[in-house]
Parts: sequence; C-alpha cells; structure tokens
Amino acid sequence: MIAEQPIGIFDSGIGGLTITQAIVKQLPTEDIIYFGDTAHLPYGDKSTSAIQAYAIKITDLLLQHHCKMILIACNSASTAAYDLIKEYVADKAIIMNVIDPLIYHLRDTHANKRLGLIGTRQTIHSNIYQKKIDHLNCGISLTSLATNLLASAIEEFGNHKAIDGLLAEYLSHSTLTHLDALILACTHYPVIKHKIQAYFNNQLEVIDPSDIIAEAVKKRLQTEKLINTSGSGSKQFFISDYTESFAAGTKIFFDETIQLKHYPLWE
Ligand code: DGL
Repeated sequence: MIAEQPIGIFDSGIGGLTITQAIVKQLPTEDIIYFGDTAHLPYGDKSTSAIQAYAIKITDLLLQHHCKMILIACNSASTAAYDLIKEYVADKAIIMNVIDPLIYHLRDTHANKRLGLIGTRQTIHSNIYQKKIDHLNCGISLTSLATNLLASAIEEFGNHKAIDGLLAEYLSHSTLTHLDALILACTHYPVIKHKIQAYFNNQLEVIDPSDIIAEAVKKRLQTEKLINTSGSGSKQFFISDYTESFAAGTKIFFDETIQLKHYPLWE
C-alpha cells in the first residue's frame, strides 16, 4: 500500500457523511471514495447475513478503486460485518470500524460513568457495546435503547422538525434517565445532535463519535506511514440507488458540487 491511495468509506446512506466530514477536516489532502448503499437502507433492520452480503459487494468496489483503508462508517455494518470484511480483505487494505475507537475513548474519558446508548436494532440487539465495555472492566454502566425508525427518518428529513415527535417518543424512554452521557451509536444521529441536546435542555453530555473516529483514522494512517500529504482532497460518491435525500445530504455536508455515481450492487 502507498499513501497516495484513497480512503474508502461506506454506510447505508448519509450517516457515514458525518464521519467523512470529520475526516476531511483532519485530513484535507486525503482522496476519498464514499459508498452510500441507499438501495438497502436502513441497515439496522436487516439480518446479519444480508448486511454481510452488501458489505462484501461494497468492499469489492472499494478494493477495485485501490483504497488503502476501508472505514465501515456504520455501526450496524460494523456490528454485522467487521470481522468478515477484515478476513476477506486480509492485507490488501486496512479495515476500521466505528465501534472500537469509541470504546477506547470511553475507557479513557468516561470510566465509572453511567452511559446511555441509542442505535439501530442490529447494533443494540447484538449487545456489541456492552460486551466490549464489559471487557475493559472500567466501571462504565451502560443502558441501551434501539431507536429503530430514527435513521430512516433522518435520511428522509435531515434535521427538519418533522422528526421531533418521533425523537421525543424515543428519548422519553425510562431507559434513558439518570445518565451522565448519551452515546450516539448510529452515524446518522449526529445530524440531529442539536435536537437531542435540546431535548435534554443542554444538561446532558451527548457523545458524537465523529471526531473520535476521524482522530483514530488519522492515528492509524500515521502509524502505518500512509498519510497522503500530496493528494487533492478529491471526493467520489457512489450510491446504489439515486435518492433525493442523499443528494440533499451531500449538499449539507460539503460545500462543493458533488457528482453522484449510480452503482447498483447487483445488476
Ligand atoms: N448509519 C448506520 C449506523 O450507524 C445505519 C443506519 C441504518 O441504515 O439503519 O448504524
């Protein structure tokens, strides 16, 4: 691998753009290839084997584009497919997920705290955060709530007020009381971070993993001596189905004209 190769990033839709934006800020000369699997969104309600099948197809595309790193910018796909993708890709590229960097960050910054977590059904029912936190044995207590419809609503409405009722319904759940902080364990949720903070009257710390993940990506590339200092910061976007909401989403995140390339995973 060489530093000039691009970074590949994927999610079911616009969620991974929250992390991509943070990566672009920290690593402006990296070239990026993004895949939004809009044809199969939401991932959170899909079976593990379905998400694995999508993830392998997307990985093939990113490898064809010679990505040096593939970041699974989706908690649901990180849960369902990280181990499989890592084995599948072997030493052809570095594979990162969005869960491990956050777990290490929590160990260092939130030991002995009472944390709440919201995410998709796939992420929450896998218990992956609980297992990894238990493994660290750092006194964190965790309560989780699957907020099933939230990612699709964000994909459709962005941070429009249409989402407020649904959000209030989820956030008023008794699981999310007496917390020191709330973790956004779905990459779509930072889009409505301000609404979530406002719901708790700005009295609760809301942990947005975007910068933490971007920092981890940078560190990993530094360790591997793969930081691209001479790239143009180009961005290519592939989507498996053209959606208005994805097109609108890219405009919110990036202040430039974005060409979306339609790439169905199965012809
Ligand atoms: N953004 C994704 C996640 O972090 C997927 C949301 C979905 O498609 O259900 O889980």
